[in-house]
Amino acid sequence: MADVARKPPRPRTRAQKGRGVTGARKKPERGSWYPAFVGSLLAAGASVVVLIMVLVSRFADADPASVAVTPTETATATATLAPGEPTPAATAAPTGFAEILPCGDILVPIDKDHRLASDCEPGDLQALPPSISAEGSQYLRQAAAAAIKKLFDAAAVEGFHLYVNSSYRSYATQQELFDYWVRVNGQAYAERTSARAGHSEHQLGTTADVGFPGHFLEGFTGTSEAEWLAANAWKSGFVLSYPEGKEAVTGYAYEPWHIRYVGVEVAGKVHNSGLTLHEFLLQR
Ligand code: DAL
Ligand code: ZN
Repeated sequence: MADVARKPPRPRTRAQKGRGVTGARKKPERGSWYPAFVGSLLAAGASVVVLIMVLVSRFADADPASVAVTPTETATATATLAPGEPTPAATAAPTGFAEILPCGDILVPIDKDHRLASDCEPGDLQALPPSISAEGSQYLRQAAAAAIKKLFDAAAVEGFHLYVNSSYRSYATQQELFDYWVRVNGQAYAERTSARAGHSEHQLGTTADVGFPGHFLEGFTGTSEAEWLAANAWKSGFVLSYPEGKEAVTGYAYEPWHIRYVGVEVAGKVHNSGLTLHEFLLQR
């Protein structure tokens, strides 16, 4: 049987050979340049596809840990905040004249106008048990660590198994994180969802982001666990710093996962006042 796929090429005719030898204007032969041209196009196309796939997987993770920032923070999706949404005046970038707060006081009104010094680090950080830590080791100040264990025990009694996926963050870590979100979602979005270095409650060592497997950050929003946390955190001394509908007051979009330890007495007062923690601490 004839093997058509391996059919040898026809020998060139004398006339064809002649044109090549005499130097007459030679019509490009499709057989010689076309495969190379098509090959180059395919290679270039494949490179673009690979580059797009790498970029998509890089950002789809939205896990700052993958860019050398240890703890994770803020939104990974757009469930409660659409990039490009107008930025309320209250969430504008700090003016640059932020007042420096005393280091070590757990009740400081840290916000866009008040910050901690770059070298402010809590002295009594301790690791949380691995059984309630997600995305690596998590650290809180001693009192906050004890309180969050109590809070999670109370949640477990009601069938809610909570974890901490971000906790103490140094000034440098917060800087990396803020820059990361600017790169990923743009400046306006970052200003609404991530604090600048020195301005994050996470630097206090008393603040944690809470969730459970498959439901961290934006994934926690709207869950029964989030509802339980909002209703019960104060009983263990925690306050949700960024409640829904208070962005113009707090400067940050809704974060049902972000809780700050202020002690049972203050948390109870904030709970009863109807004020945000930010308003309460500023008027003390
Ligand atoms: N996501 C909050 C505002 C923080 O970065 O501390
Ligand atoms: Zn947080």
